[in-house]
Amino acid sequence: MKFVLIGSLLVLLILMAVAYAMARTILRQKKLSQMKKDFINNMTHEFKTPIANIALAIDTIDNLNLLNGNGNGKLNNYLKIIGNENLRLYGNVEKILEISQLEEEKVTFLSETFSLILLLEEVAKSFDLIIQKKGGKLISSYESDNLIIKGDRTHLANMFHNLIDNAVKYNHSIPVIHINVRQKEEVAEIKVSDNGIGMSPDEQKHIFNPFYRIPTGNKHDVKGFGLGLSYVKKVISVHGGEINVESETGKGSSFVIRLPCVVIKNEMVLEDI
Ligand SMILES: Nc1ncnc2c1ncn2[C@@H]1O[C@H](COP(=O)(O)OP(=O)(O)OP(=O)(O)O)[C@@H](O)[C@H]1O
Ligand SMILES: [Mg+2]
Repeated sequence: MKFVLIGSLLVLLILMAVAYAMARTILRQKKLSQMKKDFINNMTHEFKTPIANIALAIDTIDNLNLLNGNGNGKLNNYLKIIGNENLRLYGNVEKILEISQLEEEKVTFLSETFSLILLLEEVAKSFDLIIQKKGGKLISSYESDNLIIKGDRTHLANMFHNLIDNAVKYNHSIPVIHINVRQKEEVAEIKVSDNGIGMSPDEQKHIFNPFYRIPTGNKHDVKGFGLGLSYVKKVISVHGGEINVESETGKGSSFVIRLPCVVIKNEMVLEDI
């Protein structure tokens, strides 16, 4: 009897210790995550003011330059470079801020009704130049060309932009990218495939985590923050969809997205949706 009592007491003590350790870890993680969010918010805001000031200074010099009649000098070239780099910096800061706000669920998503194919064509077109420059091609095939989606058009366009951007970036050969679309009842299935460097099964497990980039040793020839795919995943989940990756190192990757779509009945017009 005495042993049973001591045994139970011991088990109870162990359970209490485990519960305490768990609560401590959870609290610590929460604090760390809050600190990370605060840091990102402060950091991005601190960057925004100097970026805005640089843009203003460039504009002023540009105007003065024009007033003095030096419209075409070397100075203009350098100004252009500073202006473009400043814009790139602004874009990067915005990107970090946006993903942090998405994590905090601070972003509101619109509910618009639009054609998925038209959206994909628009995004694909924006890659024409860069793919042509590399001698590659982007091939689209649509099994169903009257696919209507309800959701935030801009965020979905950014989402596809990120996927195609990766397909072009992580490729050591001539990029050949395929976009296949088909409809299975209420689901639109979009597959974005590339012939790029591919990923191992272990690497695939982490690619949707914010800030994760597949380690490349000391070589940093492809730039990025490791934020694109975590944004992609978030946008798809907000729209009630899912994303899966199939990939093999050295052979290429395919991202398969399933998004709920509107089933159009014969007598329906767009206004009915
Ligand atoms: N199509 C792909 N082929 C091979 N590797 C990929 C592909 N897409 C993503 N990856 C790997 O997954 C990582 C995460 O991708 P993600 O798009 O989130 O970030 P990023 O491209 O590094 O930066 P960002 O998109 O923020 O500019 C990449 O760094 C890359 O290593
Ligand atoms: Mg990316």
